[in-house]
Amino acid sequence: MGAGKTTLGAEVARRLGRRFVDLDVEIERQTGATVEEIFARDGEPAFRATEEAIAAAVLDAPEPAVVALGGGTVLSAATREALARRAFTVLLEVEPALAWERAGNADGRPLALDEPAFHALYVERLPLYEQAADAHAHDADGIVLAAAGIVARIGAIDLLEELTPGTGPVEIVADGNVAGIHGVTAQLALGDRHIAVHEVPAGEPAKAVAVLERLWRALRIGRDGTVVGLGGGCTTDLAGFAAATYLRGVPWVAVPTTLVGQVDAAIGGKTAVDLPGGKNLVGAFHWPARVVVDPGTLETLPEEELGNGMAEAVKTGLLLGEPVWELPLPELVRRCASFKAGLCIGDPYDRGARNQLNLGHTFGHALEAAAGYALPHGRAVALGLVAALRLSGNEAALAAVREQLRPLPVRVDREVAWAALARDKKTVGGTPRLVLLERPGEPSWGNELPAADVRAALDSLIAD
Ligand SMILES: NC(=O)c1ccc[n+]([C@@H]2O[C@H](COP(=O)([O-])OP(=O)(O)OC[C@H]3O[C@@H](n4cnc5c(N)ncnc54)[C@H](O)[C@@H]3O)[C@@H](O)[C@H]2O)c1
Ligand SMILES: [Zn+2]
Repeated sequence: MGAGKTTLGAEVARRLGRRFVDLDVEIERQTGATVEEIFARDGEPAFRATEEAIAAAVLDAPEPAVVALGGGTVLSAATREALARRAFTVLLEVEPALAWERAGNADGRPLALDEPAFHALYVERLPLYEQAADAHAHDADGIVLAAAGIVARIGAIDLLEELTPGTGPVEIVADGNVAGIHGVTAQLALGDRHIAVHEVPAGEPAKAVAVLERLWRALRIGRDGTVVGLGGGCTTDLAGFAAATYLRGVPWVAVPTTLVGQVDAAIGGKTAVDLPGGKNLVGAFHWPARVVVDPGTLETLPEEELGNGMAEAVKTGLLLGEPVWELPLPELVRRCASFKAGLCIGDPYDRGARNQLNLGHTFGHALEAAAGYALPHGRAVALGLVAALRLSGNEAALAAVREQLRPLPVRVDREVAWAALARDKKTVGGTPRLVLLERPGEPSWGNELPAADVRAALDSLIAD
């Protein structure tokens, strides 16, 4: 009571594009009486029986939903069993004093009439809450992050054993830079668990079929094992795809060590390698069992790599309609990661709202391809944002991008870039489908614009 379940539940449902069910409201709807009326008329045991039956029906509904339970719902063993079977359950943490301030005596809640009794009830129920909880959170971002399996941990690499689900063997994939910085070697001890480290090339060359094949041949785990991708987006894309395909799929954990990885690449389950004809052309959706974000790992990141990540963060801020780039780095990462995670949980296969994350990317990818992938993704995205916002007629956002990212035109072949844009994964029948942003926080996707306008916007990003 008073933890904010209804407010935060509705907010999380909006972000996930799911139905919201407030169990108390559902009880009132189905019985035609308020919770207080049922308590007064029939007594608590009768109320609990009704609550248990309605909770069972809500939890058995085939359509996924965000459900706010009542404060006493978990008193029922049957409901706790249904939660364990059917739900991901988040315990919303709240200071008892604050909960009392919100719920105490407010709207005649039958169990919130005097403060000592309210606190006693909280202490009495806490073990049951803990037993039912798959995760703890205190705000909407925290709920979404928990649901996506994203945890923030300082010193993550020393805690890998604890942070890798299961008890089977672990195989770590890392590039030489990252393995060196973190002292990840084949001798790394991980409790009693078998562990091997596979070193892969740094950067985009890791995402090659030949590297993937070497990795497949080197892996020794069975289905009880876990692949850990430790590094930037190139490493986690490769490791995730190896995990998606090895033995027809084994679990994997992402430990992103770049800003690009922490705000974007390690989140949402897209994994891939490149073909000579284009980036990410062979891949799979394979959701990581866990994403462990250690803000400390960013301390060794070169300035240019931070800039690449900022391009994705600015993109996210524009989609959110919030200047996230003004936040301290750990908060920026948390806000961006939870935004992406929410979209990906709601649209795991990129058939709807997840499309908005492509803002600026249709142009950016075309420039990257025209540059033979020598252009850093962040620089390409910064330019792509300029084109998309210009086509959106959004001067304010354009100014923010210019100020934060200072994009400079690139020297690439215009015809090659235009041809690459026509081959974009989001292009249908030769016409690109663009993400636009007319107002902050209000993106639209699937937009078809006249080819001449799109071409002019692309040309404006290219230096002579
Ligand atoms: N799967 C997705 O949803 C998704 C989303 C966005 C981007 N991506 C992919 O991510 C890739 C780009 O990722 P990236 O920018 O992280 O590149 P990256 O993995 O190549 O890392 C960049 C460089 O930083 C080094 N590095 C990594 N962590 C470091 C650290 N903590 N300290 C010092 N150096 C460190 C790496 O060795 C590498 O040289 C692209 O291939 C892109 O397609 C995937
Ligand atoms: Zn990107």
